[in-house]
Amino acid sequence: MPPRDALPRTTRGQAPLAVRGPSPELPHVPCLLRPPAGVGFFVLPLPLPCPHAGAHHALFSTCPQPPGVPRSAAHLPKPRNERSLRLVVPVIVCVGAGPGHLDFLTRRGAELVSNADVVAGFDAVVDVVRPLLLNEQQVVTMGYSDQVAKLAEVAELHQAGKNCVVVLMGDVHFSGFQFLERVETACGHRVETVAGISSAQMLASKGRVCFDETTFLTFHRRGNLTPFKTHLREVLRGGRNAIVIPRPWDFMPGDVAAYLLAGGASAAHQVEVWENLSRDEAEWRGTLAEMEGRKFSDMSIVLIRALTPMPTGLEGEQ
Ligand SMILES: C[S@@+](CC[C@H](N)C(=O)[O-])C[C@H]1O[C@@H](n2cnc3c(N)ncnc32)[C@H](O)[C@@H]1O
Repeated sequence: MPPRDALPRTTRGQAPLAVRGPSPELPHVPCLLRPPAGVGFFVLPLPLPCPHAGAHHALFSTCPQPPGVPRSAAHLPKPRNERSLRLVVPVIVCVGAGPGHLDFLTRRGAELVSNADVVAGFDAVVDVVRPLLLNEQQVVTMGYSDQVAKLAEVAELHQAGKNCVVVLMGDVHFSGFQFLERVETACGHRVETVAGISSAQMLASKGRVCFDETTFLTFHRRGNLTPFKTHLREVLRGGRNAIVIPRPWDFMPGDVAAYLLAGGASAAHQVEVWENLSRDEAEWRGTLAEMEGRKFSDMSIVLIRALTPMPTGLEGEQ
């Protein structure tokens, strides 16, 4: 990979986030699909039929040095339609965005969004990335009631050869898996994901708790919550902190407190509820007992502290 400073930049001045392609010493090949490890790169004829049936592979490559172009010129800024990330095959990628603000979108996520033909997602999440979008990009927004139909539309666009990015709130890997499953069901194949920054990470930062002493649990999911509720109770009994995403329609922070207290949790656990992180942040602190019955907005996340902080392991060091 060329040194990061030498990477081409888009017209928006963003450096490409990850550039995949042959190492500079390899001979030039313009369009590459990443083959299995150790096999080397191979050239694909274009246009291509959708090759996704069951495949999960790296999807972008960069032309490091087009023929006849001196190396220095190859790394000058390129207009958007000579994409710095050259798309090898039509792709669909799920990108974590937010939560709540463009500042918390990774540079790789931004590059993918900027270079997509189609950007799709829930209205609130698409709104986060809207400042990156150009008129020529197609936008497909959806809500809970029409997500299946809209994702089918996106899958059709993808199958017709459009490069699609589906944006998910925060990190795909925390409370995003059911939506990811819906995307994959619509497409009929696995979809690449790009991690984002989650509201749980932001809360860990606000509350100064470290991941190794904290368990993340989401209740923002369809289906039976019982195993997750039991796990939460055990987490607190085990002396760990818990970061909890509530379920807006029936298991909000007040209900979480009621459930835990009924199960014998100490009323004295220190609790923080943060709303609208990265936007109009609101913070409430109290005890588990005080959280019972309190109302918070849907955009809330909860930190329940262990009764006794774990030793840091550095006690006694000079
Ligand atoms: C479907 S979950 C998605 C969570 C997301 N994948 C993440 O990593 O943050 C949506 C819930 O996450 C929580 N959430 C997301 N963004 C938030 C924010 N900016 N402030 C507080 N809570 C947030 C809220 O409880 C919201 O209802």
